[in-house]
Amino acid sequence: MSFQIAVLPGDGIGPEVVGEAVKVLEATGLDFTFHSALIGGTAYDATGHPLPPETLELCRNSDAVLLGAVGGPKWDKIEPAELRPEVGALLPLRSELNLYANLRPAKTISALIHASPLKEGRSMIDLMVVRELTGGIYFGRPSEVSPDGRSAVDTASYTWDEIERIARRAFQIARQRRANLISVDKANVLATSRLWRTVVTEVAKDFADVSMSFMLVDNCAMQLLRDPAQFDVILTENMFGDILSDEASMVTGSLGLLPSASLGDHKGEYVFGLYEPVHGSAPDIAGQGKANPLAAILSVAMMLRYSFDQAEVANRIEAAVDQALADRLRTADIFESETRLVSTKEMGDAVASRL
Ligand code: IPM
Ligand code: MG
Repeated sequence: MSFQIAVLPGDGIGPEVVGEAVKVLEATGLDFTFHSALIGGTAYDATGHPLPPETLELCRNSDAVLLGAVGGPKWDKIEPAELRPEVGALLPLRSELNLYANLRPAKTISALIHASPLKEGRSMIDLMVVRELTGGIYFGRPSEVSPDGRSAVDTASYTWDEIERIARRAFQIARQRRANLISVDKANVLATSRLWRTVVTEVAKDFADVSMSFMLVDNCAMQLLRDPAQFDVILTENMFGDILSDEASMVTGSLGLLPSASLGDHKGEYVFGLYEPVHGSAPDIAGQGKANPLAAILSVAMMLRYSFDQAEVANRIEAAVDQALADRLRTADIFESETRLVSTKEMGDAVASRL
């Protein structure tokens, strides 16, 4: 039995970092079959659309998807905007594949603990933002500028079921961690947030072993800077999760090292998911062997853990990454004195050989 992986390298440094992540998967000794397809600006250039139907079809027929990055200045001004890589590929991919649960861990890496820009960030942080990814203001309709160009509207909407499934997922994850969940909303203002609280309160009854509390989003933004170590799992809706996950990622000082998972429901034996580094396509350094492949490599560790229930192999990959960093290997983005500068490929090799 072979795990079927759709590989979507995308734009900029995407192909380079994905290449190293594939290398690490191959070094695990498990059996994978890789099928590549176009996405993003490169897909737009080749086919006229950033998410060609063949790409979506390949994803649907796979067990998991590995994505590099999409976008770049070359495609920022495409009209209509629906054909730009972010809006034309990323958002429809998420919703077409029903990837409603976005997991964004922010974890201190011991060898880089001094790299946090914040004094409060230089303690052991290990949190996970669980962001609802296919609802809320990103997808609500209407969403348009009026014909006279003098007003605009976006719509935030959530159904009970959309909130319930992400909440269940977050509680299950909390249970496997430190059993502490904070649900973040703006219930003092928004109706969607008040429904969110009602549903999360109901779901919590099935998870009496997880300690749960609510926090308003503005307070959460502040608490992440004041005392980031207090958080275990942060459960939140789509747009708040977008913002808070960027903030959380910066607190540890290792933005370039962060992986993510976007999960759907079970598909047979596996949980269908898309895995990608949190960083973008970094067109300024593309093709130069400077990109840091560790976020992509840590993303395939998440793939093994969350889609294929191979936690032990996932742990080995994470330990190999820690070891490569403890051995003072650094790509350019995290280089400092008394460390050794390596290329994208050398870093991938270093992790593979430490597995
Ligand atoms: C992210 C990104 C996307 C989002 C953009 C590129 C549409 O910021 O994955 O966090 O807002 O979801
Ligand atoms: Mg974002």
